[in-house]
Amino acid sequence: MEDRIVSAVLKKEDREVEGSLRPRRLQEFIGQQKVKESIAVFIQAALTRKEALDHVLLLGPPGLGKTTLAGIISNELGVSIRITSGPAIERPGDLAAILTNLAPGDVLFIDEVHRLSRAVEEVLYPAMEDFALDIIIGKGPGARSIRLELPRFTLIGATTRAGLMTSPLRDRFGVIVHLDYYEINDLVQIVLRSAAILKIAVDGAGAEEIARRARGTPRVANRLLKRVRDYAQVKAKGVITGEVARDALSFLGVDPLGLDFIDRKCLNVLIEKFSGGPVGLDTLAAAVGEEAATLEDVYEPYLMQSGLLARTPRGRVATPRAYEHLGLSSPKDGDRQPSLW
Ligand SMILES: Nc1ncnc2c1ncn2[C@@H]1O[C@H](COP(=O)(O)OP(=O)(O)OP(=O)(O)O)[C@@H](O)[C@H]1O
Ligand SMILES: [Mg+2]
Repeated sequence: MEDRIVSAVLKKEDREVEGSLRPRRLQEFIGQQKVKESIAVFIQAALTRKEALDHVLLLGPPGLGKTTLAGIISNELGVSIRITSGPAIERPGDLAAILTNLAPGDVLFIDEVHRLSRAVEEVLYPAMEDFALDIIIGKGPGARSIRLELPRFTLIGATTRAGLMTSPLRDRFGVIVHLDYYEINDLVQIVLRSAAILKIAVDGAGAEEIARRARGTPRVANRLLKRVRDYAQVKAKGVITGEVARDALSFLGVDPLGLDFIDRKCLNVLIEKFSGGPVGLDTLAAAVGEEAATLEDVYEPYLMQSGLLARTPRGRVATPRAYEHLGLSSPKDGDRQPSLW
């Protein structure tokens, strides 16, 4: 499963280039117009008042630009960024050490902020709210608490799983930013920008072909671009035209909607073994040969977003678009889920 070329999750092969492909300024950040506008306003206000920016929570699926935006915000504010992640901060003392080393106005970026331990979160609350650390000195009845002042800093938290965050933590962020999947046009721009940086020859049709199959996700677009480049170098004199991109992507097993073998298998099983549903998650997962949780968290979101699969109270259903996409004829009887037909 980890080998899926269309997976949005960061892979080893992405790491080497992600740094060079990351936009550094807000202007270079493509798409997400509303998000950009509101961040620009908050940054301008903080700069004008010469104050630290309010704490920012970045929400959204993997590969859409959360880490990138955190870097951009610190660049635009002209402050340093300290990067860590929820699981990396094991004990309250680790967090205290990080916080006491920040300079006024600095950004502390905590990735996977939903994975902070309870004990660490408790230290974070007064730090976020009052810019103070409460430290317990001594043990037993003689123990006392002292309050340590912190510089005013900006916490930027990022998570792909907003639902797993505790509400006291969530409530302490003044700015909440939702990133959503990108439009094709924006992904075309992202592909062209990355191609220019990586010195890859691609024309408009080639960029569009890659963008269409990138599942709304810049990280996937960049990865597909690199893989298509390899193909183009070996088979087509290095230039990525629409035709070369189409051939390369079908060679890589990525279909015109960006589905791979596993996605198509889910739909095929649903349609052929269960007449298109409705069928329960566990039954479908067993028939596909996957864990129910994997099916639900990894495969379903994109199938639903693409309008190929629907969740109904009675179970999973293949939509007419799924039949069409797989080149199968739709069932003639209208006895199931009439609203979908
Ligand atoms: N709006 C954008 N314009 C241009 N490139 C982008 C944009 N958003 C993301 N990218 C590119 O996509 C890649 C992934 O982005 P990033 O690492 O910021 O995603 P993320 O949301 O932090 O993912 P994760 O949830 O896995 O941490 C980066 O290399 C970045 O260059
Ligand atoms: Mg990230």
